[in-house]
This record gives sequence, structure tokens and C-alpha cells, in this order.
Amino acid sequence: MVMIAVAGGTGLAGRAVVEHAVAAGHQVRSLSRHRPAGGKRVAGVDYRQADFHSGEGVSAGLEDVDCLIETLDARSGAALRSLPVMSVSVLAAAEAAGVARCVLLTIVRAGECPAGYYQAQAARALSYEGAAMPTTVVFCTQFHNLLAGIFAGGAKVGLVPAFKGVSIQPIATADVARVLVEEALVGGTERKSVHIGGPAVTTMKDLAQVWKTATGSKAMVTVMPLPGAFGAFLRAGKNLVPEHTVGTVGFGDWLAARSGVGTA
Ligand SMILES: NC(=O)c1ccc[n+]([C@@H]2O[C@H](COP(=O)([O-])OP(=O)(O)OC[C@H]3O[C@@H](n4cnc5c(N)ncnc54)[C@H](OP(=O)(O)O)[C@@H]3O)[C@@H](O)[C@H]2O)c1
Repeated sequence: MVMIAVAGGTGLAGRAVVEHAVAAGHQVRSLSRHRPAGGKRVAGVDYRQADFHSGEGVSAGLEDVDCLIETLDARSGAALRSLPVMSVSVLAAAEAAGVARCVLLTIVRAGECPAGYYQAQAARALSYEGAAMPTTVVFCTQFHNLLAGIFAGGAKVGLVPAFKGVSIQPIATADVARVLVEEALVGGTERKSVHIGGPAVTTMKDLAQVWKTATGSKAMVTVMPLPGAFGAFLRAGKNLVPEHTVGTVGFGDWLAARSGVGTA
């Protein structure tokens, strides 16, 4: 039986990965700084404490691991600044532990957006692409959760924001997880990169309307400009990979399948 470790297995994407990997019959270990409370654990997952910044618990956590999927994240401050270094540490520890392949989840064309978070994502991808060991970088479009979170956040002050001139190709984390696990098991010694996006490219205005209808929100869909580098990135369609519509679950279907619709 294959042992898959998920660095960040307690996070949004990581949880989807551990769920998928366990359901597919693999042995699964989650590595993160905090272990979830009993009720929040996925049955069958071996939750271990490991900190990829300090190195604490990492070697022990990687014992007997065949392949590793990295879904670590940090959003701001010192944690964000150290994110690229953490990915280097993940690779070094995995190589030392004899892991056969490491798979990184990151964002499509992150290197083309000057915002700090995106630059950190691009730096991580470069480390994986230049690693001494077999790796796959999975470049992914925005999650449905992110989009729903933006709409829900705006609705609290009466408007569902739709950035002018922006289209999104959102994807379900379950679809992302399927690809990450497939890539972890791919075998061979090559370094690969894969691009994945949701099943449809849709204007943010139409997605906002889908969200409003699904949630019954009384907030008004409001088209507004998004200034700055991230706005320019989105208006140029650099967040889209229409030639790689790997996802199977559309935004409306994803909303319909959720209880507590409308929250991130
Ligand atoms: N959101 C999107 O739309 C989107 C789209 C495409 C790609 N992605 C990429 O997907 C990846 C995962 O994002 P996410 O939203 O799932 O992240 P998340 O929910 O914030 O999860 C991050 C995980 O990393 C762990 N972690 C953070 N620092 C750690 C450390 N020093 N040592 C060990 N574990 C640590 C966290 O657990 P602890 O805090 O307990 O350590 C948590 O399990 C990111 O690289 C992101 O860029 C996101």
C-alpha cells in the first residue's frame, strides 16, 4: 500500500486531498503544526505535528512516506515571506527521507502578478521545477471557496462584488485533490508541470448572480473596478486556463451541494 504524506493536510485544499486519498484506499499522513480536534479529523488519516519552518517533527513525519503533496500556505507578513523557503525545506526533507515524488499545489501564472503573495507562489514553483528529485507542479485556478468567500464578504455590507472586465474559472477542491493524488502516484523520474482549471470560464458578474440566486441573498450584484496589479492580472485573463478544463464541478453545482451555502 502506498503511503501519501500531505504537508498542510488540515488546510482547505489539504483536507480535500486527504479525503480523496483515503477514499482511494491509500495510507495517508497529514503534517501540519496543529492537529485538528477529533470531530474535524478525516477517519483513517494519521495526523502528525510537523513544522516545515522550524523543522520540528518533519523527519519523523516523513518516515516510510512514498510520495508527498504540498498544500502549505501563508497569506501575509513573516509567514508569507518564509513560504518559498518552506517549500525548499519540504523538498530537502523529502529527498533525505527517500520520498519518490513531491507534488506542489500553486496558482496559474502566479509569476505574472507582482503582488507579494503571487510572487511567493511563483518562487515555490521554481524550486520544485529545479529540484534534484522527481516533482510535479500543479498550477491551478481559483477555488470555488475563494469566490464564494468574496461574494459572502461583500454581501455583509449589502453588495455582491463583481470586478469589472474579470472572468473566473473556479474549481472544486475535490477536483484539485483528484489531480494532486494522481500526480503523486505517477512514478518515473521526470519533473512535470500540469495546469488545471474549473469546467467553465464565466464573467464574475454572472458568477455573482449565480451566488445570489443560490443563497437567496438580498444583496445587490455590483460591478466595480479592481485597481492595482491584481486587478490588471485578472482583467488580462491570466488567471484562466480555458484549454485545461479539468474540473468537473461547476460553481452552481458546488453551491447546491453545500450546506451553509455562501460562506467561504
Ligand atoms: N485559494 C485558492 O483559490 C487557490 C487556488 C489555487 C491554488 N491555491 C494554493 O493552494 C495552496 C493551499 O491553500 P489553502 O487555501 O488550502 O491553504 P490553507 O487552508 O491556509 O492551509 C494551509 C495549511 O498549511 C499548514 N501550514 C502552514 N504553515 C505551516 C508550517 N510552518 N508547517 C506545517 N504546516 C503549515 C496549515 O496548518 P497549520 O497552520 O496547523 O500548520 C494548513 O494545514 C496554496 O499554496 C494556495 O496558493 C489556492
